[in-house]
Amino acid sequence: MTWGEGTRAVRAGLPEARAYEPTLPGPVFAAHYHLPGEPTGPYTYGRDENPTWTHLERAIGELEVPGRTDVETVVFASGMAAISSVLFSQLKTGDAVVLPADGYQALALVREQLAAYGIEVRTAPTGGDAQLSVLGGARLLWIETPSNPGLDVCDVRRLVAAAREEGALVAVDNTLATPLGQRPLELGADFSVASGTKGLTGHGDILLGHVACRDASLAGSVRRWRKIAGAIPGPMEAWLAHRSLATLQLRVDRQCATALALAEALAARDDVSGLRYPGLPGGPSHKVAAGQMRRFGSVVSFVLPDRARAERFLEALRLVDDATSFGGVRSTAERRGRWGGDAVPEGFVRFSVGAEDAEDLVADVLRALDEVR
Ligand SMILES: Cc1ncc(COP(=O)(O)O)c(C=O)c1O
Repeated sequence: MTWGEGTRAVRAGLPEARAYEPTLPGPVFAAHYHLPGEPTGPYTYGRDENPTWTHLERAIGELEVPGRTDVETVVFASGMAAISSVLFSQLKTGDAVVLPADGYQALALVREQLAAYGIEVRTAPTGGDAQLSVLGGARLLWIETPSNPGLDVCDVRRLVAAAREEGALVAVDNTLATPLGQRPLELGADFSVASGTKGLTGHGDILLGHVACRDASLAGSVRRWRKIAGAIPGPMEAWLAHRSLATLQLRVDRQCATALALAEALAARDDVSGLRYPGLPGGPSHKVAAGQMRRFGSVVSFVLPDRARAERFLEALRLVDDATSFGGVRSTAERRGRWGGDAVPEGFVRFSVGAEDAEDLVADVLRALDEVR
């Protein structure tokens, strides 16, 4: 039987029902396990494996590629730990890697570190599939689509096909879309990587990351890196994340519908420019996004005339916290330029749509814009 996405989200990763056991077993807090004789697992030491991770990893895997049992997922302490696990387990001195020029800010730090290890780092923008132009001879292509914070989109299938010709592995940072919005492994990628800190867990209260792959040896190398670096999630965080997955479809559907309503309302204003939402028909990334995304995410970005206007706008909002990150049930927004790491105008606002009523949220935004005009 094929279940719908909501049903799968609700049941993802649950163990077989056993009398008098909870549906979702509670977090297992253990640094070590009873281990008589030879150390042949599955649970030996707390940095290697934990039953709470196992349930969560199964759950995420079921969402990453529905109906397949050959997906292996590895959870991490944060999205950056997940990203680092792929890059640093796959690349060695003398290799070339292609990164997006406009990806998540901390990629710039990763880039410096890779270069320090003698790895050639090439960058190109996400939009227009520009990474194709620097792919020659690369060992790994790193894609982030939609990109954060510019919300550009690239054609994953096309990039994967080109990477295959070069013999390059492909990793997709799927943080913004979540597995309900986009399935990188089905689009041909070798690694689907995400920060679970955002929409996947969706409450703005934990940090988490994961890597999913179909190839067991790639999964093994990522798992090995987790053991070496010790970048492991706490059992409580893993359990909270699993609990949150049950509402993933509810949250994401609501957030995406409201994000589109907000984008449509913003499109009608003359004090807003540079509006981006991949789900907005007629928008610059909509066509490519519609070919590979099932939902378009909770983030809308736009530009107000200058820094002062953006700051006053953020202050005037009542339902939206001035905070970084995205994907949570409470709307947040920030003037992205305050961090200094993104090539964005001073008045650029990254807006993360929460689970408030769409009418309330859109009204709050329009009122705040009017007030600071
Ligand atoms: C696209 C993207 N990837 C990765 C990360 C890093 O995730 P974390 O903060 O969980 O380490 C972020 C964080 O904002 C992000 O936006």
